[in-house]
Amino acid sequence: MRKKVIAGNWKMNKLAGECGEFLSEILNDIDTSEKDVIVCPTFTALWKAYDTVKGTNVHIGAQNMHYEDKGAYTGEVTAEMIREAGCEYVIIGHSERRKYFAETDETVSLKVKKAYEADLVPIMCIGESLEERESGETFNVLKMQVENALKPLQIDEKMIVAYEPLWAIGTGKTATDEQAQETCKFVRDTLNDLFGDVSEKIRILYGGSVNEKNVKSLMAMSDIDGALVGGASLKAEFIKLVNYDK
Ligand code: PGA
Repeated sequence: MRKKVIAGNWKMNKLAGECGEFLSEILNDIDTSEKDVIVCPTFTALWKAYDTVKGTNVHIGAQNMHYEDKGAYTGEVTAEMIREAGCEYVIIGHSERRKYFAETDETVSLKVKKAYEADLVPIMCIGESLEERESGETFNVLKMQVENALKPLQIDEKMIVAYEPLWAIGTGKTATDEQAQETCKFVRDTLNDLFGDVSEKIRILYGGSVNEKNVKSLMAMSDIDGALVGGASLKAEFIKLVNYDK
């Protein structure tokens, strides 16, 4: 059985103090006994989030990192820097990074490799656009994204993949349970073709307008092992979302 993951991607929201306050408010109410709960604040708030959750079962992730160890990359941070700030996880290749900051499958691949070297768990994001889904290209697009990024690498069961259809992110329009299941299953099959049996142990998350209402039925799907949550992870609703099975 794969342990479920609920990860909150806070994007460019919440100051350090606000992260600390929010986490203090929810910590006693979220049930982390049977799943991995991760929050991903912005870089400058990582230390505060870590400080607040230290000693609990809530884990911290960053939303990005560079693949080099150091050097002249103005504005970037390294794997070691986010580890120092308390991260165990790192989101890589979120569609907003691909869209606004020119991330490619190639940089995603380099970052996943670096995450492994730095003992961070990569949460690699993939997903198709509305146009690609409507023209029947979804599986091709996802296959390319997975293969381009992961084929050159050695990955193992700690890898996390987040399937996030672009048309569902921040739109309030969630994929249906069946659509999300079918696609996550396809991603698992693709991982199986590349890496064999370990694909059964890799956690595949769904992301895109997950909320306290739709989470339960999505999580009941056999190939969906968790959720990457944006908007709904910023509010008290996150408590109910994490506790969906209570
Ligand atoms: P959303 O964001 O839940 O607000 O749609 C998800 C994400 O971007 O990871």
